[in-house]
Amino acid sequence: MKKLTTLVLSLLLIAGIAFGGGTKEAPTTATGGPGEVEVLHWWTSGGEAAAVAVLKQLLEDEGHTWIDFAVAGGGGDAAMTVLKSRALAGNPPAAAQVKGPEIQLWGGVLANLNDVAKANDWDNILPKVVADIMKFEGNYVAVPVNVHRINWMWVNPDVFKQAGATIPTTWDELDAAAKKIQAAGLIPIAWGGQPWQEATVFEIIVAGVGGTDFYTQTMIDADVSALKSPTMVKVFETLRMLLSYTDPGAPNRDWNLATSMVIKGEAAMQFMGDWALGEFVAAGKVPDQDFIAMTAPQTEDQFIFNIDSFIMFDVEDPANAGAQQAMARLILEPEFQEAFNVPKGSIPVRLGMSNEPYAAPQRLAMKNFVTSAKTGDLVPSMAHGMAVMPDIRGAILDVVTNFCNSNLSAEDAASQLASAVDVVK
Ligand code: BGC
Repeated sequence: MKKLTTLVLSLLLIAGIAFGGGTKEAPTTATGGPGEVEVLHWWTSGGEAAAVAVLKQLLEDEGHTWIDFAVAGGGGDAAMTVLKSRALAGNPPAAAQVKGPEIQLWGGVLANLNDVAKANDWDNILPKVVADIMKFEGNYVAVPVNVHRINWMWVNPDVFKQAGATIPTTWDELDAAAKKIQAAGLIPIAWGGQPWQEATVFEIIVAGVGGTDFYTQTMIDADVSALKSPTMVKVFETLRMLLSYTDPGAPNRDWNLATSMVIKGEAAMQFMGDWALGEFVAAGKVPDQDFIAMTAPQTEDQFIFNIDSFIMFDVEDPANAGAQQAMARLILEPEFQEAFNVPKGSIPVRLGMSNEPYAAPQRLAMKNFVTSAKTGDLVPSMAHGMAVMPDIRGAILDVVTNFCNSNLSAEDAASQLASAVDVVK
């Protein structure tokens, strides 16, 4: 982990991005005049685009200019590659979607957002655990947007009906239902064969098969003996079972195309975070009528969380610094929190917001966010960069993807997983 931190920071130094020991002082001269802010993000699907348009509009309503820098590719891996090369070229965008512990890797070269945070009471309107992720050496350097839940199963009830199958609540029931759906000539599982999507399903199975303690040991603590334990073998066996119910078009399929297979009744279910809800809603579908959102098998109590956030790079021009600070402020205002999160499928990160305008799955998520925190079942997503540093995540994704695209046995996959993590740890 230290190795990577040093690497990123020294590359930035070489690229000529000035940086001191801590975060930069917030520009004191941010003017009220119009400025521009270039925003790197990866929100390009129907639901995502509808949500990000809200932020653009609010910023433009204040007279600022939004320069859109969208890098397609769910999960953001492509966007992160582009961000690194822009930073290396000494020309990072003013704002970039960066999440979780990775914020710490950039911390030393980011703009300090303490003034905006103080003026808008971020310490009190955010859950402490979220505020802590947004800080580097005690200073705010990122602003959180929302909370997504990962462990969802998106179901087309008509497909189950056609096959005479029952919607599963355990992995064994899923096996039985999927067999019937396949026998009826339908696709049981809409699968996107991209590493981050495979990792998303993998971590859901880790939570479901192993429970919260096992999830913590493996996906957060990266404990090598737990990673090669018999429970992990069972996780890979379950993943293999799921893979046997996917279609030949799965390799490299985008997540929203997989969601659309469920929407259209071409497939029975998809395992994906609740940005998928945004796609159902954008397609005019109604929960509990056209589709069902359920917690994935055996993960009813758990809430695997994924928080989107933006980091801000220091900018020279005071008007542009003002635009940047306006963006940071707007993101945590109640108006944005509601207008963005409703179409995005996520829930507000700001405390004390009403659940009224939200769809049923989001209301359930809002409730479970609180209950899971109390029972210790609120856990960060490995697949979405919330739980471990990027090098450990990368090692896990490599093994999981290799397993999904080969005939590797579950035993060998578990032992490869442990070795791969051990090397980078
Ligand atoms: C992000 C979501 C996004 C999803 C698919 C996740 O990592 O947190 O905001 O919708 O990737 O692109």
